[in-house]
Amino acid sequence: MSNRGGGGRALPGRRSGGSPPPVVKKLVLAYSGGLDTSVAIRWLKDKGWDVIAFTVDLGEKKDLDAIQARALKVGASAAYVADGRIPFLELFVWPSLQAGAVYEKEYPLATALGRPLIAAMMIEVARREGASAIAHGCTGKGNDQVRFDVTTAALAPELEVVAPVREWGMNRDDEIEYANKHGIEVPATTRSPYSTDENLWGRSIEAGVLEDPWAEPPAEVYTWTRDPRQCPDEPAYVEVGFKEGLPVSLDGKAIGALDLVTALNKIGGESGVGRIDHIENRLIGIKSREIYEAPAAVLLLQAHQALEDITLPKEVARFKDLVAQQWAQMVYDGLWFSPLRDALYAFVVETQRHVTGDVRLKLFKGSSHVVGRKSPIQLYQLSLATYGKGDVFDQSAAAGFIKLWGMGVRTSAQVQGRLHGRDLGNLLGKVKRLGK
Ligand code: ARG
Repeated sequence: MSNRGGGGRALPGRRSGGSPPPVVKKLVLAYSGGLDTSVAIRWLKDKGWDVIAFTVDLGEKKDLDAIQARALKVGASAAYVADGRIPFLELFVWPSLQAGAVYEKEYPLATALGRPLIAAMMIEVARREGASAIAHGCTGKGNDQVRFDVTTAALAPELEVVAPVREWGMNRDDEIEYANKHGIEVPATTRSPYSTDENLWGRSIEAGVLEDPWAEPPAEVYTWTRDPRQCPDEPAYVEVGFKEGLPVSLDGKAIGALDLVTALNKIGGESGVGRIDHIENRLIGIKSREIYEAPAAVLLLQAHQALEDITLPKEVARFKDLVAQQWAQMVYDGLWFSPLRDALYAFVVETQRHVTGDVRLKLFKGSSHVVGRKSPIQLYQLSLATYGKGDVFDQSAAAGFIKLWGMGVRTSAQVQGRLHGRDLGNLLGKVKRLGK
């Protein structure tokens, strides 16, 4: 599949001093328009690369035309802009929603899910352009470098990965100086003390005062979610309909993935839902503090879980919890394109066959709760659960069942005695007794 060396393209090679004219090596750079990747274009050019910039829209509401123009201005020989929103939701977010993936009980994985898609798209560009490498602006301390590099290893092992920020040893001030020296306009966002990443599934914010885990996040870090104190005094309700584990309707009306997630980010954000403050374990062994805003992710994960509660058999639900955790770790650790995900997904899909129905959520001043769930094929059966009229459960069957269920414990107590680790002592303490 590789274009390397084929089709009469320029072969990659090292630039040697003087003549003959250098063979130009071509690479595709993930370009955000920010300081790091703008400086990277120039730096890579100086290293002899022909740089193709690639920017993809995953729903971050950026001015893509401006970014594309800037890439060329800074020195890229071509600049691509692509719309990845639908593939992002359908190929990456939806399977993870079905899996119930939340990293370390907190993080719905927005950034982690975006990276393998960006890398996969860049690989397509690299093949189209006959490039021999892809490049990204990730630091050597984070998870994102792993996701880019491993995705490339999985999908295009013939491509080299170049990571200027890992190599150049410049700090922020050095980069600004470098930019000024080379006539690269320093973007306004450079003044922000925070590092952010954004896509439809959530917004990640780190650095600045957030590096002190004791410091409460200042109001300014939040841009998607309202401060609960400024939220409406009346609760908002949303009803999400699912078919086989995928959300298909909002408040009773059929809706596509993009409109649904966009709507839920807005509705949730207005009620202050989706703020997450997480000390997380990075793959490379550093603990870091990240703030997330993920209203749609939080609401959909809650709703999906509630529907599984009512439709999945007990044993499947319990085992699926383990799979969900494994899935989250796998995605976080950059193994989206891996045999493990293929295998886990086969399990997840099988579990979703009956996850069809509706869930109602109540949103109020920063919190959201499931207040109703129903499915035409729910395993919740009133005739079994009820304490009222219409009870069909045979209570006399319980005694024999429990006798067998407790047989092991009874035998242990009889043969080996004392089952608890320490003496329970006098639990009653001073107790009042009336009567003879
Ligand atoms: N910690 C998150 C992850 O590894 C987000 C990384 C990007 N965050 C950022 N603020 N730029 O998935």
